[in-house]
Amino acid sequence: MEVVIAPGAELARLAADVIDRLLRTRAAQERPAVLGLATGSSPLAVYDELARRHAEEGLSFAHASAFMLDEYVGLAAEHPERYRNVIEREIAGRVDIAPEAVHGPDGLADDLPAACARYEEAIADAGGVDVQLLGIGTDGHVAFNEPGSSLASRTRIKTLTRQTRQDNARFFAGDVDQVPTHCLTQGLATIMAARHLVLLASGRGKAEAVHQLAEGPVSAMWPATVLQHHPHVTVLVDDAAASRLQLADYYRETFAAKPAWQRL
Ligand code: GLP
Repeated sequence: MEVVIAPGAELARLAADVIDRLLRTRAAQERPAVLGLATGSSPLAVYDELARRHAEEGLSFAHASAFMLDEYVGLAAEHPERYRNVIEREIAGRVDIAPEAVHGPDGLADDLPAACARYEEAIADAGGVDVQLLGIGTDGHVAFNEPGSSLASRTRIKTLTRQTRQDNARFFAGDVDQVPTHCLTQGLATIMAARHLVLLASGRGKAEAVHQLAEGPVSAMWPATVLQHHPHVTVLVDDAAASRLQLADYYRETFAAKPAWQRL
């Protein structure tokens, strides 16, 4: 796991660089790039940077496909906070990715377990996710894998914790009762199957979760800690989110001394 501590704008550029490189190398090859998209505030600056590169630098998503991490259950198709609509607004609708190439779990399906199984198949059929963007919840959840999630879990229905619903109430006019109680989420094992995981976190509210993620014991109580078992994880954090890291100085020195040829 590589931890990079830097100002927010630089973190967004670094994450965008990873996706930029993937898109440009894959455009020339047969196998199209498969992106893993996250919602929440953390990836927004990355999406802005990718949209800018698309508009100004010819970065093309035309051959790429994308898979979302999660979705609320039961939010109406046109609801602005339905993750499908959030992704359309924040990134898909701003670049040249084909609309049918953007996939998400179907939170409006009649048969939710069948929808989850279909989603797992779709990811596998696409050849798996190349680069997965991730945020982290204040309670250490990734996607919507709340504390107690099986480290071997696959896409399934989950009940959101009160904490997560309170954290997300800001997207629902501050009213926690409007936040859905259930979601469909890629499981931890689903996420772990992606080839490169890029997690972004900023602000003091994430400091404990980031500390646990990078330095705590692997435990279902802090679901993000499972990432310690992944061979290629990049954790991009600002100073506030890094404020509880025991090895912060080491991470800073390591990144400052990183050989130019060695990319994220
Ligand atoms: C939600 C999303 C997660 C996200 C988390 C943190 O719960 N399902 O994917 O990581 O929020 O969100 P934020 O980046 O807004 O802090």
